[in-house]
Amino acid sequence: MPPVEKHVATSRLRTGKEYRELHTWIDDADPKIKSERHDITRTFVFGQRIEKRYGREGLNEYLQHIHDDVAAKFEQLQHDVEKMTGDILTYFGVKKGSALNYTVQQADIDIMKNAGLTDADLAHCLKVAGKAIEIAQRTGVRLDMELVGRGAFFHDLGKAKSHAMDHGKIGAELGIALGLPKALTDIMEKHIRGGMTEAEANELNLPVKDYALSSLEEKIIIYADRLVDIITDGVVQIGSEREAEDRFEEFIRDVQKYHKNQVTYERYLGYHREIQSLIALNA
Ligand SMILES: [Fe+2]
Ligand SMILES: [Fe+2]
Repeated sequence: MPPVEKHVATSRLRTGKEYRELHTWIDDADPKIKSERHDITRTFVFGQRIEKRYGREGLNEYLQHIHDDVAAKFEQLQHDVEKMTGDILTYFGVKKGSALNYTVQQADIDIMKNAGLTDADLAHCLKVAGKAIEIAQRTGVRLDMELVGRGAFFHDLGKAKSHAMDHGKIGAELGIALGLPKALTDIMEKHIRGGMTEAEANELNLPVKDYALSSLEEKIIIYADRLVDIITDGVVQIGSEREAEDRFEEFIRDVQKYHKNQVTYERYLGYHREIQSLIALNA
């Protein structure tokens, strides 16, 4: 179940207040007491006391805490069952184990919808996930396909709250509150301009730190995000998705929206060349 810190972060997002005392009280260090405080048949009695102390909003945060724990437990269970089923089917040869495949899970789609993502943004995220998986497969490199697929899918989670440059930072905060792995929240935070330098972060008024990408999985996601923009936003005319790759250098050089500035341009060029050379080697 999410630790107190996650409940605190979720309350902060929802209400602007932490309700740390309340969440700490619910998640008592003594497992027996903690279990009593999560017992839904006790919510009426506890709820009355909580409402007296913290008001309506506090009461809601108490109920939400229990709800979030139930959701997290079942998500974990679902993940475990899916993994176990896949492992067993692969073991008996019923399913041919493919190290280079990943499908976006319905549970993740639900997370994005519940966060408030619009249908258009959801479609973009699905498209980026599909493109990232395709690119990863074509490199022939043994990659963490779950990271490629989920990272690409969740990269724009922050668009549930903002379409400005802070959507990376907001996405990472939302992801942490939802209990998503750090590898995913890192991608959300780093995807703005494809891995900013400290100077660029400063210029964009974002927390000043190094956003450099650290793995091929991350680079493929960023590359896929840019390719999907080229393919879908209608700024340039192309006859096929592959043309976005073939003419990538031309597009990011000529279209200001795609290169922003020299530093970003060179960074995207670097990802493109590195990934395309791997694809060429595997052809
Ligand atoms: Fe984005
Ligand atoms: Fe995006």
